[in-house]
Amino acid sequence: MKKKSYLNDDFKKFYHGGDYNPEQWIDTKEIWDEDMRLMKLAHCNEITVGMFSWAALEPREGEYDFAYLDEIVERTYSNGGRVIMCTPSGARPHWLADKYPEVLRVDVEGRRQHFSARHNHCFTSPAYREKVRLINTELAKRYAHHPAVVGWHISNEYGGECYCPLCQQAFREFLKNKYGTIENLNKAYWAAFWSHTYDSFDQIEAPAVLTERSVHGLNIDWFRFTTAQTVDFMKCEVAPIKEVNPDAKITTNMMFEHYGYDYYKFRDVIDFASWDSYPLWHSGNQELTASSTAFWHDFYRTLKGKPFLLMESTPSLVNWHEYNKLKRPGLDNLASIQAVAHGSDSVQYFQWRKSRGSTEKFHGAVVDHEGSENTRVFRSVAKTGEILEKIEEIAGTGVEAQVAIIYDWENMWALDDSQGFAAKNKKYYETCYSYHRFFWKRAINCDIVDRNADLSKYKLVIAPMLYMVDERTQGSFESYVKGGGTLYATYALGMVNETDLCYLGGFPAGKLKEVFGIWNEEIDTLYPGQTGEVTMDGQKFEVRDYSEIIHARGAKVLATYSKEFYAGEPAATVNEYGKGKAYYQAFRDCDDFKSAVLDSIANELKLVRNLPSGKDGLPFAVSAHTRTDGENLYLFVENYSEEKIENLDLGDEYEDMLNGGFSKSVTLAPYGLAIFRRKI
Ligand code: GLA
Ligand code: ZN
Repeated sequence: MKKKSYLNDDFKKFYHGGDYNPEQWIDTKEIWDEDMRLMKLAHCNEITVGMFSWAALEPREGEYDFAYLDEIVERTYSNGGRVIMCTPSGARPHWLADKYPEVLRVDVEGRRQHFSARHNHCFTSPAYREKVRLINTELAKRYAHHPAVVGWHISNEYGGECYCPLCQQAFREFLKNKYGTIENLNKAYWAAFWSHTYDSFDQIEAPAVLTERSVHGLNIDWFRFTTAQTVDFMKCEVAPIKEVNPDAKITTNMMFEHYGYDYYKFRDVIDFASWDSYPLWHSGNQELTASSTAFWHDFYRTLKGKPFLLMESTPSLVNWHEYNKLKRPGLDNLASIQAVAHGSDSVQYFQWRKSRGSTEKFHGAVVDHEGSENTRVFRSVAKTGEILEKIEEIAGTGVEAQVAIIYDWENMWALDDSQGFAAKNKKYYETCYSYHRFFWKRAINCDIVDRNADLSKYKLVIAPMLYMVDERTQGSFESYVKGGGTLYATYALGMVNETDLCYLGGFPAGKLKEVFGIWNEEIDTLYPGQTGEVTMDGQKFEVRDYSEIIHARGAKVLATYSKEFYAGEPAATVNEYGKGKAYYQAFRDCDDFKSAVLDSIANELKLVRNLPSGKDGLPFAVSAHTRTDGENLYLFVENYSEEKIENLDLGDEYEDMLNGGFSKSVTLAPYGLAIFRRKI
């Protein structure tokens, strides 16, 4: 049996709770009393505290006051709860910015910000790093061994860049370290183009509004630098905590479609992954919303290869979407359990109690301004709490996936930066989501990995629009396929190297031409609304956006173009290479082609389907995901649609963990869910 992996071995349950800001209610302690009572009623057992508390904890430089936090930690613990302790660097006190203006960020137009808002500090500033170190040290001394504290939440939603002189200098150092000499950098950047040759590292400036933005190698290195600088800043935040308690469990809350930082680079600094999920439910297509959310749950689970935490979600609505619609009754339970189905060991909310003032006063919370347990939202949260208690044994279990989808930040940055294809929107997210959704709809679990991940444990790997490959990726793909893996890649594969220089000798890069048995000569970009056509076994498929003109060099042709001057040329191929197979799809399809090709690949590879799903997949907006401890299989079936789903075949007999009894099928109410168990 596989060992379960818990965040804390003293607490083998799901965490249910969220962001709590007692410092906002410090003058009305009766509210604190109410909070403790209400937490019990809501079946909540966790609070996340301290993230925006710096001004309360260090009201004047060097003068610390932990009295209120001590009291909250003690009260929570004696109430049976646990604490995730935050470091407060996401928002600094006024005195700090006044005394050390270098901590304030300089924006892309070169303007230094005034004290304001949050998430806007310089990651390089020695003064900021030092002040953060000091307060984190105090926090660690007080709480790193406290039995209530199960984890450390470092800062809050790290993001953005700073263009101050300190960051510019650090960028130059970063490049010096990477390239050694300016000649190497010029070569790597193809700097002879437009006479952009640098004479020395001192001439380098971050790509910004008035500076160099045409050198693609520089642009991607700036992304790499801002990621590295933030990771380094985070390491400085973590060090004082680990010094006091090397076993302290570290995370930082990450986001949906976060563009600016390569999250894979945070993997080694965190002990567990966590993220903040705020989908646009009911905005048009529930299937898209549910499956793209599932993509990110899968990403965070794969990131550390073990349960993650859903650090934030709203039990009702947010305040920052363009239109802030309420979650329909049932949807909150469904969305919360979706995270659990994909490997979360928590359901946590932003926020426990609505604040009275400032920008988030209308953001959803467990406790409304009204203040009691007699609200629809409170009852919904309590219901999720009851569900989590019923399925407690699932906490700590893992997810088995036979399929991996490659989603890669560096690739995305390079692809988006390329002046070509559809200039403004390459649709990288949409493309990755569309392949993931194919498996989601067919109840096949997926991991999400970077381009240089170890692929050996997967039966099938999908590489959508993997434009940037380095030598390592080429080698890894070659040995994966040679060793028996099935690799499915699409248009735009292997065009540039890691500094964004095109590969010579034909695309895809180097050996990949042999692995796939093709050469990609040209790429045709269609205007929006225009379509092309591909034919496979007499069936026609619509083409959108991209058609590559490829030549089969050993690969077997599966589909050909049936329109345009390239009619008759290959549009999809498969190549047997070593013990495996490499598929190439040269055009963007409208999902019907995926149903035709990937479904038969899934059958050929005997991929595990969590329930019988067939060629076209489950009914609209229904999903089925599993977790396992090696002995039991836990099946979560969820209905995101407003239709009742009757008698869905489970393919096996399962025990119903919520309602008791055994069954081989399930009927789901609109926004309904079911959780089953069977012995493996
Ligand atoms: C983010 C932040 C929270 C809060 C929520 C509101 O996730 O981490 O502090 O602002 O958004 O949705
Ligand atoms: Zn800076």
